[in-house]
Amino acid sequence: MQPFAAAELVEERVDTPAGEFLVRRPRDPASLISEESFGEDEYLPYWAERWPASERLCRTLPADLAGERVLELGCGLGVPSLCCARRGAEVLATDWSGDAIELLRANAAHNKVGLEARRVDWRYPTEVLARAPFDLVLAADVCYERRNVAPLAALLRALGAPVLLADPGRAPAGELVGELAADFTVDEAGPWVRRLSPRAAPARDERQQCASGTGPAR
Ligand SMILES: C[S@@+](CC[C@H](N)C(=O)[O-])C[C@H]1O[C@@H](n2cnc3c(N)ncnc32)[C@H](O)[C@@H]1O
Repeated sequence: MQPFAAAELVEERVDTPAGEFLVRRPRDPASLISEESFGEDEYLPYWAERWPASERLCRTLPADLAGERVLELGCGLGVPSLCCARRGAEVLATDWSGDAIELLRANAAHNKVGLEARRVDWRYPTEVLARAPFDLVLAADVCYERRNVAPLAALLRALGAPVLLADPGRAPAGELVGELAADFTVDEAGPWVRRLSPRAAPARDERQQCASGTGPAR
């Protein structure tokens, strides 16, 4: 595996409804693949790609987010988080990849945008639950494997906040929405993007049950 720090970065102009960002990312994400990490937890460096769902999500963000507390799950390059921060939100961007978090911090500074980025595995969400409540939760293309459905459903239920879920139509994302149908109303916020609105605030013990330790380092 090529260490992230040694990977060649490219800088791209990313146009969003919140304006332009200069985003650096690895030129060749495949070079970051490690047999060791994959063998351990089927980890692949998906964080390093620009996914179209993230772009769609940016188009559905509220124009005024001043003072709103926003959480992004599986943020990867974190463009929606950058947009929200520029629009005045207090943003916590999370991913299980330490490399993604390190690069997002650098990209936020490079674009003079203030946000907090933390390594959090959504299967071990103690830290984000301790920081709840959030006004808005963002998730772009996070449900691409069936193994993601149960932990994400448990976490979103425990957070009990409105969610913008962007997805290109992957089957596990449909399963996630189905799992949450009893607790959230679902409507279309835009192409590829569903808005999930909680029917009621989560019970305190639901948050406690969902919180369970710290995830492995990536
Ligand atoms: C397909 S990428 C999407 C990235 C970004 N949201 C976007 O749309 O550009 C999926 C993201 O989920 C992250 N991820 C996968 N499993 C995770 C887990 N258990 N906890 C937190 N993040 C995870 C990956 O590192 C990656 O950044």
